[in-house]
Amino acid sequence: MVSYKKLGLVNTKKMFAKAVKGGYAIPAFNFNTMEQMQAIIQAAVETKSPVIMQVSKGARKYANPTILRYMAEGAVQYAKELGCKKPQIVLHLDHGDSYETCKSCIDSGFSSVMIDGSSLPFKENIKLTKKVVNYAHKHDVTVEAELGVLAGVEDEVSAAESHYTKPEEVIEFATKTGCDSLAISIGTSHGAYKFTAAQCTRDPKTGKLVPPPLAFDVLKAIEKKLPGFPIVLHGSSSVPQDCVDTINKYGGKLPDAVGIPEEQLRKAAKSAVCKINIDSDSRLAMTAAIRKHFAEYPGHFDPRQYLTPAREAMKEMYIHKIVKVLGSNNKL
Ligand code: G3H
Ligand code: 13P
Ligand code: ZN
Repeated sequence: MVSYKKLGLVNTKKMFAKAVKGGYAIPAFNFNTMEQMQAIIQAAVETKSPVIMQVSKGARKYANPTILRYMAEGAVQYAKELGCKKPQIVLHLDHGDSYETCKSCIDSGFSSVMIDGSSLPFKENIKLTKKVVNYAHKHDVTVEAELGVLAGVEDEVSAAESHYTKPEEVIEFATKTGCDSLAISIGTSHGAYKFTAAQCTRDPKTGKLVPPPLAFDVLKAIEKKLPGFPIVLHGSSSVPQDCVDTINKYGGKLPDAVGIPEEQLRKAAKSAVCKINIDSDSRLAMTAAIRKHFAEYPGHFDPRQYLTPAREAMKEMYIHKIVKVLGSNNKL
């Protein structure tokens, strides 16, 4: 058993309370590689922002759970080395799919876990979430749960359509489970294709898709039922069109990739939404930089040559999110 406290990590409790009160959101960036971890920490330190580094089941499989844990421990030391005296870094399991996975993460140093029972019937979701909460709280680890279904792929859970969270269910769910935060469905979804062309209108000037608005009425109704309770938004990448254009220009093929407009996320961050999940934008920034680099330097084959601009592009993107969208800068 390794306590996250020994690794210098923190849970989300105080961080979320401060964010809800202050009208900003904490960035939750997924990481799979050392370059992503470095870029996340550099961005958080430079902007003096708390940050959630999150690991999916896929990331654990790709990078190895033990390596990821040591990377998170390294991340805390790296933040200190970069001049941050008291970094506020959470190591979070993203979309935990079972009690066993959550327990294994808690036992190996995670400070926060998500149990994603969103595909289960309401009562079973409560039962599973409560079981995880009971174990996690014994170790002062915070738990994110989910109610409502996001369209797209949630690790092994996939849904053709989204089902918005039902505001009339949230009080019973939060009370019976004791969860610390709640991920809700209000129209976001995972990946780089968040809406079909049929769901969007098209900007006549640029030819780009313009997505429909998020269901802010549902968010408002949830906030009314659970005043001040920390709310989480998954699937919140904006799919920057300059990245998509660069990828397509240099041999990629991402037709009609579309995300959540930043002004909508800005609005959400000012509400009880205090954690905003971003993964796809990091993948797009990295891929755009690497494709461009290969096109410009066809003779390069040392990974450090193309991973350096890739890391720089991700760092810039993370800083932009923190400062211009979530407002979590200068909050340490
Ligand atoms: O929720 C989905 C995240 O973007 C993680 O994706 O399962 O491919 O690592 P992944
Ligand atoms: P995006 O695919 O929009 O980046 O969402 C990531 C996410 O929700 C991770 O849990
Ligand atoms: Zn997610």
